[in-house]
Amino acid sequence: MKGKTVRGNWSFRTNKFTFPYVFLLCIFFFFAGFFGSTLFSHSQDGGHGLRPRSRFLESTEYNLMTAGDSGDDSITSIPFQVLSWKPRALYFPNFATAEQCEGIVDVAKAGLKPSALALRKGENEENTKGVRTSSGVFLSASEDKTGILDVIEQKIARATMIPRTHGEAFNILRYEIGQRYNSHYDAFNPAEYGPQKSQRMASFLLYLTNVEEGGETMFPFENGLNMDGSYEYEDCIGLKIRPRKGDGLLFYSLFPNGSTIDPTSLHGSCPVIKGEKWVATKWITNEEQADYR
Ligand SMILES: *[C@@H]1O[C@H](CO)[C@@H](O)[C@H](O)[C@H]1NC(C)=O
Repeated sequence: MKGKTVRGNWSFRTNKFTFPYVFLLCIFFFFAGFFGSTLFSHSQDGGHGLRPRSRFLESTEYNLMTAGDSGDDSITSIPFQVLSWKPRALYFPNFATAEQCEGIVDVAKAGLKPSALALRKGENEENTKGVRTSSGVFLSASEDKTGILDVIEQKIARATMIPRTHGEAFNILRYEIGQRYNSHYDAFNPAEYGPQKSQRMASFLLYLTNVEEGGETMFPFENGLNMDGSYEYEDCIGLKIRPRKGDGLLFYSLFPNGSTIDPTSLHGSCPVIKGEKWVATKWITNEEQADYR
C-alpha cells in the first residue's frame, strides 16, 4: 500500500510540473553543451597556457572569494598525482608545454659543464668519479631572456606554496647514454657535511625530454623498501619514475618538522639506455636565498 501511495504522488507531480521540467531540462542541456564545447576547444590547444580554463568557466564553476592584495582573483588548477607518502612525492603531468621544454634546452645548451658533486669528508674528485656523470648548467629565471624559466618558477611556487625566493637557480642537466646519478640525498646531513646555513627541503624536477629507455628517477627506499643495509648506491630499484617531456616531479627531503632528513627521500637517476635525458631541477630551501635573482 505504501508503495502505491508513493507512486501516486509521483505521477501527480509529473503532471503538475511537466512544463517547468521540460524547461529546466532545456536549460540543463544548453549548459551541458556549452561547457562540453568549451572544454573540448581547450583540450585541442594542447594546454599551452598556464591557465587553460577561461575566466567565465572559473567564475561559474567556483564561487570565488575576494582575495587579499597578494592573492589571485582566479582559480589555478595544477593537476597532480600522489606517487608516494614515504617520501612525500607528487607527480605533475603536463606541467610545462613541449615548446617551453625545448626553449629551456636551447638556452641551457650554451653553458653546459660536467656536473659537480658536494664532497663529504674523505671524498675527492678521483674517488667519486662515476657517481654523477651528467653535464649541467645553473640558470636563474632572470638570466633566461626567453622568460620561460620565469613562468615555470612562478608555477612551481604556486604548486608548492613556497615563495620563489626560496629556490636556488635552476640546475639544467643533460644525461647522455650511460650517464647516471647514484642514489643520494638532496638535503645535506650536518653530521656528514658540517653545519648548514640553509637546507634543501624539497626538489622539483621538470623533465624536458622523453627518454626512449632508462633515465628513470628512482627512490630505492620508497615506503621502507631495501633499507636493510644491503643497498648499493648504483642499484636502480624501488619506485621508478619514467621521464616524460613536460612532466614535473616534486618530493620533500625533510620531514614536516623541517629538521630531520626523510631517509626515504634517497633518490638517483638510472643510466640512460636509449635517447637523451634533459631535466631542469629546482632545489627549494627552507631559508630564503640571499642571492636570489
Ligand atoms: C621530525 O619528524 C620525524 C618524523 O616524524 C621524527 O622521526 C624526528 O625525530 C623529528 N625530529 C625532531 C627533531 O623532532
